[in-house]
Amino acid sequence: MNHHTPVLLNESIESLVTDKSGLYFEGTIGFGGHSEFILSNLNDKARFIGTDKDINAYEHCKNKFKDDNRVELFNASFTNIIDVSNISFIEKYDGIFVDLGVSSFQLDNKESGFTFREDVQLDLRMDKSKGEPASFYLNKISESEMVDVFFKYGEERNSKKIANAICNFRLSNKIMTTGQLKGIIEEFTPEKFLVKTLSRIFQALRIFVNNELDELEEFLEKAVSVLNKKGRIAVITFHSLEDRIVKNFFKEKTKDCICPPEYPVCVCNTEPVLKIITRKPIIPSNDEIKNNKRSRSAKLRVAEKI
Ligand SMILES: C[S@@+](CC[C@H](N)C(=O)[O-])C[C@H]1O[C@@H](n2cnc3c(N)ncnc32)[C@H](O)[C@@H]1O
Repeated sequence: MNHHTPVLLNESIESLVTDKSGLYFEGTIGFGGHSEFILSNLNDKARFIGTDKDINAYEHCKNKFKDDNRVELFNASFTNIIDVSNISFIEKYDGIFVDLGVSSFQLDNKESGFTFREDVQLDLRMDKSKGEPASFYLNKISESEMVDVFFKYGEERNSKKIANAICNFRLSNKIMTTGQLKGIIEEFTPEKFLVKTLSRIFQALRIFVNNELDELEEFLEKAVSVLNKKGRIAVITFHSLEDRIVKNFFKEKTKDCICPPEYPVCVCNTEPVLKIITRKPIIPSNDEIKNNKRSRSAKLRVAEKI
């Protein structure tokens, strides 16, 4: 089975690997496509640490790389980068990479509960051992909180209408499945907008239950703190909310002064920490998009530690 086709493969690894004997980290090993390519660009002295929150992805990679003694993997969030590095006695990396979002396996696999194309438990957690499934929140949070989630994380214009319909439904039923949620939205969404609306609502719920944006911000700060001088950080994002966080974070870290503009002279003594390598994000070629539709929204940003 083809679990996942890695996106921007050459572009990301070309900009990430600067030392063939170096130390590398991938926070989102998924089904090992990028990891495998990173490893094929490294020599025997190199080391590679990988994490994934999803137990299926972790176990798949554990097996895939079982004979490669450069590799150490953890079933953990990439926000644990410092803890897992301590366990592996690594202080600093030469390259740190994340390929955000979900894998095709997670989207297509019924048991993962990510898809609205099948009627399954409405879960959407990447790590099913932590937190609560999406259905728990849909039955619990207030209508205004729900509107915020759909608007903020899904950029859905009909957030109020959808939240109101869900709250009416839950007066007499518990929402437990993707089919129920789809049914509620289907009732008042024109056929031609249905897939896009469902995609936005499912994305919003997924970001919310996995705390994706906060985790990304936490990770970026930690990652830069464990990057060697001249080491690279490369991030692939799949929607504008993530991309904005990465873009602003990189920009902020290039600044040599953060004093308020009305100060006549600089008093902050800020030193720039990063140099941006990709002025504009790298996006997939037309050929890549033709061969892998899921790559169409990918954006790669790379920065280097000064
Ligand atoms: C797009 S896939 C990565 C695919 C991978 N690069 C490959 O080539 O197969 C994203 C993966 O990141 C994982 N993930 C998302 N957020 C995570 C986090 N905060 N910590 C660890 N893993 C995460 C997901 O479980 C998923 O397996």
